Amino acid sequence: MASYDVIVIGAGPGGYVCAIRCAQLGLKTACVEGRDTLGGTCLNVGCIPSKAMLHASHLVHEAEHNFSAMGIGVAAPKIDWPQMLAYKDDVIGQNTKGIEFLFKKNKIDWLKGWGSIPEAGKVKVGDEVHEAKHIIIASGSAAASIPGAEVTIDEKIVVTSTGALDLPKIPKKMVVVGGGVIGLELGSVYARLGTEVTVIEFMDGIVPGADKEVARSFEKILKKQGLEIVTGAAVGKVETLKTKAKVSYKLRKDDSEHQIDADVVLVATGRVPFTEGLGLDALGVKLSPRGQIETDGHFRTSVPGVYAIGDAIAGPMLAHKAEDEGSAVAEMIAGQKPHIDYNLIPGVIYTTPEVASVGATEEKLKEAGRAYKVGKFSFMGNGRAKAVMQSEGFVKLLADKDTDRILGCHIIGPSAGELIHEICVAMEFGASAEDVARTCHAHPTFSEAVREAALACGDGAIHA
Ligand code: NAI
Repeated sequence: MASYDVIVIGAGPGGYVCAIRCAQLGLKTACVEGRDTLGGTCLNVGCIPSKAMLHASHLVHEAEHNFSAMGIGVAAPKIDWPQMLAYKDDVIGQNTKGIEFLFKKNKIDWLKGWGSIPEAGKVKVGDEVHEAKHIIIASGSAAASIPGAEVTIDEKIVVTSTGALDLPKIPKKMVVVGGGVIGLELGSVYARLGTEVTVIEFMDGIVPGADKEVARSFEKILKKQGLEIVTGAAVGKVETLKTKAKVSYKLRKDDSEHQIDADVVLVATGRVPFTEGLGLDALGVKLSPRGQIETDGHFRTSVPGVYAIGDAIAGPMLAHKAEDEGSAVAEMIAGQKPHIDYNLIPGVIYTTPEVASVGATEEKLKEAGRAYKVGKFSFMGNGRAKAVMQSEGFVKLLADKDTDRILGCHIIGPSAGELIHEICVAMEFGASAEDVARTCHAHPTFSEAVREAALACGDGAIHA
């Protein structure tokens, strides 16, 4: 039996960052992980592999659609699927081994196996029981099924994102259930590789929580790229046949029934907290009706000495939210007073164009009755975007009508996922739109579009 200051359960972005931060703060730390590699869903079967596939498939799209216009003559790209998967696996390996290196560097013990908490202060891994003054649950989430539908996920024909990242071949036809982040990122990957992709979304538009203007523009762009998108449709049944599946859905507007065949059905209807096998019931850790571990403002569960962070608790299921919570709980245990502003957690969809947002949407501001102004700038007016043939999209900045303080930003366009951070920092410092507008931005950059949107909150953009 070993004794630690902290044992973290789960080595995803929440857990491994938490363990590193604990070690940095001088706490004797171990991290329990049952997978063969560190990094959790994000590094093994989520964020990182999907970004490799998005990158590779984007280059295929560029070669097919834009090379000739730039004067580059190449034969039509041939896709070596096993090699594309090997490239993705190599990217995963580099990242997961990187975390292993960081654990060694920070003298964090990796307790290999699935952990449970037999009682406060103790963590069981395999046959061994370890002691810890503080236990942090960072057990993450698992894919949800389709609510109210008959469906069996076999990870071959009916898959979650995990199966979709490891298909034996590129499917001819794919149905994606759920027009959220996973559905649109992976739907884009396969659409670019030649798959006929149909996205079926329950709500009246894709990415339901997003700024409506951005979501509408995004839907149009994706349709132009060849994705079929059916909205306002409830999937009732996914029937698995020998080598394909049949998806039955009902259009909510007229109750009409429809069926569609596919070689692969991707279920991307959200994720649920993963807390199985931890022994939380017997321990007395309270869960919400949605299965999330209940915590107070300091990540403390209902059992003293047991904390929880990341996808297993309330809030957006995002790797960077989990990372911030991992750092924060470590700092709290070490006696510091960290703070997370949940209004400033950015969201990014890594399609082409990318979609990114931070702060309030226009809809939320209206709902709250807040007086606001909108500064918008199209990438059509941005020289750099034109130069790289990516001038679709816009930056939309929302600021308080009277004080000019930035309240939110929504971007659809090239590198939106990078551009958004300028506004995250500005909002952290309580900046006004004028602060951003008066900051010199290098030319020619996509960032100039952000400055122009800020100018549009005042006297007006220059290039509009
Ligand atoms: P999501 O919550 O983003 O989207 C699920 C979609 O499915 C919603 O649009 C919802 O209206 C729809 N839906 C629900 N039930 C349905 C039904 N019966 N029929 C049709 N549509 C239905 O969830 P998603 O895409 O599965 O992602 C899971 C989590 O992982 C999310 O919290 C997401 O933010 C996170 N994630 C984040 C990424 C990023 O930051 N780039 C990448 C991938 C995942």
